[in-house]
Amino acid sequence: MLVKSKQRVSDHGEVFTPPWMVEAMLDLVRAETERLDSRFLEPACGSGNFLVRILQRKLAAVELKYVQSDFERGHYALLALMCIYGIELLHDNIAECRANLLGVLPTICASINRTACAAPHPTCCHKTSFTAMR
Ligand SMILES: C[S@@+](CC[C@H](N)C(=O)[O-])C[C@H]1O[C@@H](n2cnc3c(N)ncnc32)[C@H](O)[C@@H]1O
Repeated sequence: MLVKSKQRVSDHGEVFTPPWMVEAMLDLVRAETERLDSRFLEPACGSGNFLVRILQRKLAAVELKYVQSDFERGHYALLALMCIYGIELLHDNIAECRANLLGVLPTICASINRTACAAPHPTCCHKTSFTAMR
């Protein structure tokens, strides 16, 4: 398990799941992680270790399935994104989680920009809210 400080562990139970364990756990529900409209809510999402991998898996499925059409890729990538929710207590983790999810988004925005959306990437991305403060 990964930690930022002993204080945060004791105050908020903050320990981060290592990538190999995230992968192994998501493999237990592989089909769901690759189904574009399956919904995931992580009630203590931290910096998004699970949410980011879920989004990456869904986007990989989009890329495989909609090779031919930019419009469809953009459309289904957004659908995948809209099915992912997180709740987190600490502001810095929320910011990190958002940034980490945004890091996965350029693929989506590129597809959308090539087709329907005239907004520049940051505007387009910031319109979507990924994590809620509790
Ligand atoms: C064990 S960590 C898990 C982080 C992430 N899910 C992971 O596996 O890497 C628990 C997270 O829950 C957050 N947390 C603690 N109390 C919470 C509460 N009452 N509501 C929402 N989040 C909370 C902490 O800030 C911390 O980021």
